[in-house]
Amino acid sequence: MRLLLAPMEGLLDHALRDVLTRVGGYDLAVTEFARVSGTVLPKRFFRRISPELAGGGRTLAGTPVRVQLLGADPQLMAESAAVLAALGPSGVDLNFGCPAPTVNRHRGGAVLLDEPETLHRIACAVRRSLPAGMPFSAKMRLGVNDTGRALDCARALADGGVDELVVHARTRQEGYRPPAHWEWVGRIAGAVAVPVVANGEVWTADDWQRCRAVSGAQDVMLGRGAVSDPFLARRIRAGLPGAAAHDPALRSAEWAELAPLLARFWQLVQARVEGRHAPGRLKQWVGLLRRSYPDAQQLFDALRTLRQPQEVDAVLVRHGILAASEPLAA
Ligand SMILES: Cc1cc2nc3c(=O)[nH]c(=O)nc-3n(C[C@H](O)[C@H](O)[C@H](O)COP(=O)(O)O)c2cc1C
Repeated sequence: MRLLLAPMEGLLDHALRDVLTRVGGYDLAVTEFARVSGTVLPKRFFRRISPELAGGGRTLAGTPVRVQLLGADPQLMAESAAVLAALGPSGVDLNFGCPAPTVNRHRGGAVLLDEPETLHRIACAVRRSLPAGMPFSAKMRLGVNDTGRALDCARALADGGVDELVVHARTRQEGYRPPAHWEWVGRIAGAVAVPVVANGEVWTADDWQRCRAVSGAQDVMLGRGAVSDPFLARRIRAGLPGAAAHDPALRSAEWAELAPLLARFWQLVQARVEGRHAPGRLKQWVGLLRRSYPDAQQLFDALRTLRQPQEVDAVLVRHGILAASEPLAA
């Protein structure tokens, strides 16, 4: 069984991939989508979205990272994929799940699930542009408004040459609202010959177990659950039931282990993001951690109104996350 770390534009970037794969438990991560629209993406774009390309397409902890492409034009997608492939990613993934109106208006992401022929053309063109043996996957939802074409879409992608499918088990219309229809992952797996990974609404080890039982899938991709609970993959691997996660002693041990990772995340964010935007990124993650850790609430309250990196440093020192002696960010 494998656990995959989901692509999440605007949330799960290089900094968060770094720290979550340090905690461990993940076999593979996928970058946020690189949108191909009107022009072939240059190397520098891919290097920015995936600094892991400089390290053999792996996070510093060694987890392989696939880079995700989003777009509707088979030719531009293929040429962009060729540029990307020359940089040596651990694989290439295609996005047919993004529900964002700005993306969908330009025929990108989930709206293409109404056009299985287009999916097929994109997959064929990208496959042809990749070196033999480079892992090539696609991530899809169940449809735009309903599941009527889900199997056609899955077959179109598999016939087009993807060697793995990730199924986010909801339609575009369903957004991110529970439930995820895990039974559809099984139906899709029955219709194609490639491995199918289940995704959607796995927040706990118990969810993971139910998702596998209902879908029949071996492999599961974790999204929001992974961000709000950085130890989720590790606990799943340890065979700890979901209830164990609520043990206060375990939670406080995990929070202590998280402290240096929060410090590292803050450093990585500051290295890449303009100063005035950096506090927002930290607040975003700490805000999501509140779902799992009571201590995150106090930290979040202390950070909430801050705008200056120096003020954030001071709060992190007060909460024992940054050592007072650590050089504070300029
Ligand atoms: C903020 C956010 C950004 C996302 N960005 C992407 C993306 O760039 N590419 C993609 O394929 N899916 C994206 N997704 C979808 C997730 O990868 C995943 O399929 C979805 O969140 C369901 O899994 P979950 O219930 O475990 O979170 C995004 C989801 C969220 C909430």
